[in-house]
Amino acid sequence: MLDKARSLLQPSRRSAVPPFMVMDVMAAAARLEAQGRRIVHMEVGQPAAAAPSTAITAAHSALLSGPLGYTETLGIASLRHRIARSYRDWHGLDVDPQRIVVTTGSSGGFILAFLAAFEAGDRVAVALPGYPPYRHILTALGCEPVGIECTPETRWSLVGETLLREHRVRPLKGVVVASPANPTGTMMREEALADLIRCAEDAGIAVISDEIYHGLDYAHPATTAARISSDAIIVNSFSKYFCMTGWRIGWLVLPPALVRAVERLQQNLAISVPTLSQIAAEAAFDGRAELENIKHGYQDNRRILLDGLPKAGLDSFLPVDGAFYLYADVSRFSSDSFAFASRMLEESGVAVTPGVDFDPIHGKNFIRLCYAGSREDMIEAVARIGKWLKERAP
Ligand SMILES: Cc1ncc(COP(=O)(O)O)c(C=O)c1O
Repeated sequence: MLDKARSLLQPSRRSAVPPFMVMDVMAAAARLEAQGRRIVHMEVGQPAAAAPSTAITAAHSALLSGPLGYTETLGIASLRHRIARSYRDWHGLDVDPQRIVVTTGSSGGFILAFLAAFEAGDRVAVALPGYPPYRHILTALGCEPVGIECTPETRWSLVGETLLREHRVRPLKGVVVASPANPTGTMMREEALADLIRCAEDAGIAVISDEIYHGLDYAHPATTAARISSDAIIVNSFSKYFCMTGWRIGWLVLPPALVRAVERLQQNLAISVPTLSQIAAEAAFDGRAELENIKHGYQDNRRILLDGLPKAGLDSFLPVDGAFYLYADVSRFSSDSFAFASRMLEESGVAVTPGVDFDPIHGKNFIRLCYAGSREDMIEAVARIGKWLKERAP
């Protein structure tokens, strides 16, 4: 009986997505900390700061003021209006609040967007290096992620020409773009984004723009794809700029034709997004002063790394335009970034993420450093990396 149950409960083929290696680095770092070692954490892509005090205060009073029931599936109306208003304030753009859907982080937004826009079997292009869950969510949903290698010549971004080349091999149904991007931290200029969107849409390829790092732009202001096309699906989140990773809340801006489909999907998949998080997220928009201060901290950290890492021996990295990542080429030291990162953690006490998570081909030559921690951590990381590279590096 037990044997039969065991054989029935085999994981499905589509659940066989690769793990996220950064979690393995985190676990190794936690083991060292349990032994009393001090570890500088630069592996996890999340702000060290808490949500703005406006969000915390709103959440406190919501907890005290009654039951937190389900909300409308598309999100609390006042939050949807507030999100719409942020497009006017930040991008000078009028967005109809009816096009906005509140989601459980951008992760929840991707599942809804992919389900609403694509059929099983559809081919969807993603940049390599790129955020691994784009590929893994698509795979789990039965779509085919098509990784396109990006290069320094295009500032590590997808461009129309390479997209169309892949489209001619076998038609694509969609493309995921991100600026600022993870893991590279690079950004696309407005003209580059507009070119890519025009090329894609003229060829019948739907555009999904991951704008989760908007607000964290240092090289030049980030452009929302919503300014370029009302057919683009915009995915965004309160996780990064708003420092609310654990609140699990984000949003979509959808072409009107997809709103009802996403509503039906979310009704069935989630009913609604956590009410407390929605209330806190709306209040987070009033915490801009605090959030801008935190952003200045990232700018400071970025400067410390840009000045310090080359002197420490890590002198080859991609343009550090936005988000809070620096993607460094370590091929001079190793062609196995997982082993390199493991040794760096063990011997120098600095935790970073190997590039293989983000790019199965060239990622073996890169590591990603997250600079969302404290200023002191950045200074210490540069010193430790410098000492390690001098004394012990492979
Ligand atoms: C590029 C990118 N998109 C989406 C996400 C998912 O974030 P969340 O679900 O917290 O909104 C992340 C998280 O690190 C990310 O880096």
